[in-house]
Amino acid sequence: MAEGRFTNPVVASLAGVKDFFAKQELASRFSEKDRADGKTVLITGANSGLGFALAVAFAKRGARVIMAGRSKIPEAGNQVKKLSGSETVEMHYLDLSKIETIHNFTQSLADQAVRIDICILNAATALPGSRQTASGQDEMFLVNYLSNVILTQDLLSKSVISLNGTDPISKMLFISSDSHQGATYIDYDEFGTFFKYGVSKGISNYSYFKLVLNTYATELSRRINKDGIQLSINVICPGPVASNIVKEAPWLLRMTLKGIFRIVFKSPPKAARAVVYMALSPDYEGTSNEYLHMFNPKKMDPKVYEIEEGQKLWAQSMDLLKSIDADHRAFVS
Ligand SMILES: NC(=O)c1ccc[n+]([C@@H]2O[C@H](COP(=O)([O-])OP(=O)(O)OC[C@H]3O[C@@H](n4cnc5c(N)ncnc54)[C@H](OP(=O)(O)O)[C@@H]3O)[C@@H](O)[C@H]2O)c1
Repeated sequence: MAEGRFTNPVVASLAGVKDFFAKQELASRFSEKDRADGKTVLITGANSGLGFALAVAFAKRGARVIMAGRSKIPEAGNQVKKLSGSETVEMHYLDLSKIETIHNFTQSLADQAVRIDICILNAATALPGSRQTASGQDEMFLVNYLSNVILTQDLLSKSVISLNGTDPISKMLFISSDSHQGATYIDYDEFGTFFKYGVSKGISNYSYFKLVLNTYATELSRRINKDGIQLSINVICPGPVASNIVKEAPWLLRMTLKGIFRIVFKSPPKAARAVVYMALSPDYEGTSNEYLHMFNPKKMDPKVYEIEEGQKLWAQSMDLLKSIDADHRAFVS
């Protein structure tokens, strides 16, 4: 059975405390002068936490911001407009636990001929235990991993993100977690299968699914960029964020974690800075397969880069999608 690095949520949060005090190698490279004028930026899970802070930051820097989420529509969008002083902010409904909403969302963008320059795959959930979706998968597996595959394949196949003729090239940023480091190899016997579990396995799965996500991002880049970089696909962990990520934890645990968050986790606007840096700085223009842990460039878990792992994950994911998603379209083979 696959396992992530942590099984105890308090221990996982204390690792975040260590990150809070860590050196931020490239922090001085962050610049308010890196603008996003004329760019269209899509952010998933933009109604809350890091995603919300990113929406404000990109709107302030002149981007047209497309906020995708399942709640606080239109309140969160109105708040972003107010905080940024920008009117080019819109909110779209997207529930990553409901596959049909992904297809509807991408189709509505395609119908309006929207072209995304920067796509930030930020939404994720940390559930205290298993929950089965209407399509039969574990909710965390679907939201934190598989729906990102469906969304990216859809955006590419409907040309909402285009590979050709964009100068500078379009970008995709996967928001991950450094807690993926040390997770086990992907377990293909249980891949996509629903089974019941509680808090410890939930925490373990959260970091394990980030390893799965990073492996997909790496393989996507390998396939798209085999003859030179056509799409910049990078991964970033924002470090500890005082967000709503633990909102579904049992009361006592939630209060404990919120206490830790309040004291030593970064505010969402502060945590967003490294993401804005990676998305807009000339330092990362035209790059792919790079990883930042906050402002620190480093390698992801070595398993993420194994070619066989990437190929196997790709094949298994496409097979699974063929069986659960009638509208599945694979963009790259
Ligand atoms: N917090 C941390 O310390 C930390 C550390 C490392 C990495 N991260 C990563 O940072 C990213 C942002 O998390 P956060 O800390 O800002 O937490 P957050 O405030 O809970 O934000 C998560 C966002 O994802 C959305 N989401 C959850 N399930 C969804 C679904 N089924 N469909 C669509 N959207 C859904 C949430 O929407 P609702 O409000 O409707 O639930 C929310 O907008 C995540 O990828 C997380 O893994 C966080």
